[in-house]
Amino acid sequence: MSGRHFLQIPGPTNVPDRVLRAIAQPTIDHRGAAFADLARDVLDGVREIFKTSGAVVIYPSSGTGAWEASLVNTLSPADRILMFETGHFATLWRNMAERLGLEVEFVPGDWRHGVDPDFVESKLRDDRSRAIKAVAVVHNETSTGVASRIGEIRRAMDRADHPALLLVDTISSLGSIDYRHDEWRVDVTIGCSQKGLMLPPGLGLNAISAKARAASASARLPRAYWDWAPMLADNTTGFFPYTPATNLLYGLREAIAMLREEGLDRVFARHCRHGEATRRAVRAWGLELVCQNPDEYSSSLTAVMMPDGAGTNEDADALRRIILDRFDMSLGSGLGKLKGKVFRIGHLGDFNDLMLAGTLSGVEMGLAAAHVPFTPGGVLAALDYLSNSELRT
Ligand SMILES: Cc1ncc(COP(=O)(O)O)c(C=O)c1O
Repeated sequence: MSGRHFLQIPGPTNVPDRVLRAIAQPTIDHRGAAFADLARDVLDGVREIFKTSGAVVIYPSSGTGAWEASLVNTLSPADRILMFETGHFATLWRNMAERLGLEVEFVPGDWRHGVDPDFVESKLRDDRSRAIKAVAVVHNETSTGVASRIGEIRRAMDRADHPALLLVDTISSLGSIDYRHDEWRVDVTIGCSQKGLMLPPGLGLNAISAKARAASASARLPRAYWDWAPMLADNTTGFFPYTPATNLLYGLREAIAMLREEGLDRVFARHCRHGEATRRAVRAWGLELVCQNPDEYSSSLTAVMMPDGAGTNEDADALRRIILDRFDMSLGSGLGKLKGKVFRIGHLGDFNDLMLAGTLSGVEMGLAAAHVPFTPGGVLAALDYLSNSELRT
């Protein structure tokens, strides 16, 4: 097909040319001085994105590896961990915790709401023996477009005066949605490269609090590749205990520079504005958002329910197929129990008004081509909002 593909899944996201060019530099000796300069730049710079003055480790891994690192470095066999069924990724993280031998309390959810801070408070108050060692929350549930309120969850934990660690997955929010590792006293924040950081897949990140580092000294889950200790020790001189993803680190240095140039607050405001424009389009189409709480709307993606009467559960996938075949655009599929029932529009990373206009046009044309019952005019509603709203920080 002529023209460029629209990659509008909620990650991996469109990689900007600047980052692609940075990655295209020759690979260097990862034990030489030039590499140490690069590593120090990124290990230092990436802390700004997490809003932490503490340590960040960067694995050559996907986000799943960074999940595992957060658990095996802080917890011991049969430790109790409180997790929440906010969607598909929260469920996968729970599965991992169980396979690692943790005792998981998985709070049921409807996949349309985030974690309720009041529930966290009462659950922790009831835990008089302080048996719960960690609370694990997915900040932005990529399968549903629901963002949990981490600052409020932190305050709920404080009100309960409970010492559990707070572990937060920011895989589809880091660099897209307001997030404050230090201010919210998060103990481990999990991130990865292929979403708001605008890189290809291949880097997994942990931002680590002093409390988490102290916990890792006595944590007994087996760990080898994911062990923070050799990583943190080698990182102090700009090196890694094993071969790092050198070229992705070039890309990360460039991505950090881009986020700095735009300013994180403007980046967050841009994502909020695109989220709002997208939701206006969805409402004008007469379709339903998966997210049911306006305080929890995600600004990095929007998940949309297929309308009743659209036929079988496979319809969302049929719609996505038509949009791909006809308009060369990839949308996110429904995951887990939402398979076939939902499609997801990614509007995060290196993205602007006209890219959103093109994306929503592709969806609206696809809805018509797939004979989905809908009301035309969503694109106009979004354009109207975009042309009349300034970017506010
Ligand atoms: C919220 C969330 N957590 C975890 C993951 C798993 O990350 P990965 O696929 O990079 O292993 C994803 C992937 O999309 C995600 O969106």
